[in-house]
Amino acid sequence: MTLATNQLTPGIVRAEQAARRVGVIGAGAIGRSVIDVLARGGVDGAVLACVVSQHPVGGLSVPQLTPTEAIGTCDVIVECADQVVVRQYAAKILDSGVDFLVTSVGAFADEALLRTALAAGPGRLMFTSGAVGGVDLLANAAAEEPLERVRIVSRKLPSSLLQPWMDAETHERVRTTEAPLEIFHGSAREAARFFPRSLNVAATVAFAVGDFDLVEVSLVADPTAELTTHVIEAEGPTGRYRFEIANRPSPENPRTSGVVPHAVLRSLSVLVGHPVRIV
Ligand SMILES: NC(=O)c1ccc[n+]([C@@H]2O[C@H](COP(=O)([O-])OP(=O)(O)OC[C@H]3O[C@@H](n4cnc5c(N)ncnc54)[C@H](O)[C@@H]3O)[C@@H](O)[C@H]2O)c1
Repeated sequence: MTLATNQLTPGIVRAEQAARRVGVIGAGAIGRSVIDVLARGGVDGAVLACVVSQHPVGGLSVPQLTPTEAIGTCDVIVECADQVVVRQYAAKILDSGVDFLVTSVGAFADEALLRTALAAGPGRLMFTSGAVGGVDLLANAAAEEPLERVRIVSRKLPSSLLQPWMDAETHERVRTTEAPLEIFHGSAREAARFFPRSLNVAATVAFAVGDFDLVEVSLVADPTAELTTHVIEAEGPTGRYRFEIANRPSPENPRTSGVVPHAVLRSLSVLVGHPVRIV
């Protein structure tokens, strides 16, 4: 996949400042694109320093390191791997003074992990908005008083929703469904546990509104879902909100939307101090 340079306002030049050294964990659908853009200097103020991957990654101009080596080498670590990586390394990264940009946002549905990460530092913890939009407005709306109702209905191709914990019958029912089938209904906290790789959107919205248990999630396996859709509705003292998102799945990984690497790069651009930002 080819990505354009992730500049919010092309042509704006940063004041002279040392580029921050960035390590990327994970070189799959998201990570590979992020690595390639960083390697060609596509994020102003950031330089690719290393890659961490379970497998050898081809065509790298930087070393492939262990997580511990990467922490000792980088100013910023970008996670594009798995919730397990977040659980294992979040505190260590932040305690080492390294900023941590997280893609597997659902990991923080685990309250103990979130508490540990929030107590860690001086590195800063940041979540990419990833596949979802409108989270800034939802956060603003929830700032003064809690929202009363937040609901997300996500539709994805059945093949992208199969889980190792499903018994044979459920697995087959989801895989072969010919009509839209609701396969999960519950809180964003439960969603992150049962669909760790498919419902980061719900976790991101939960962070925006400050409550994993308030956010009601319905997940639909839809054999006609050429695009992955999320309809987010929220209501509270400040108003009523409705966002509808239809993302084209990544050709490399149908569970992931193709827009996510762009989101990660833009988040990184903000983190390293791009002079113009939407906040
Ligand atoms: N925030 C969002 O909106 C959003 C959207 C899509 C995906 N995601 C999440 O982003 C993460 C990456 O997604 P993807 O589509 O690139 O997945 P992917 O499966 O295509 O790639 C993940 C890569 O990480 C590597 N990896 C896994 N565990 C590792 C470890 N311990 N150390 C080093 N490398 C490891 C894998 O080998 C793989 O190459 C997933 O957790 C996914 O759920 C978030």
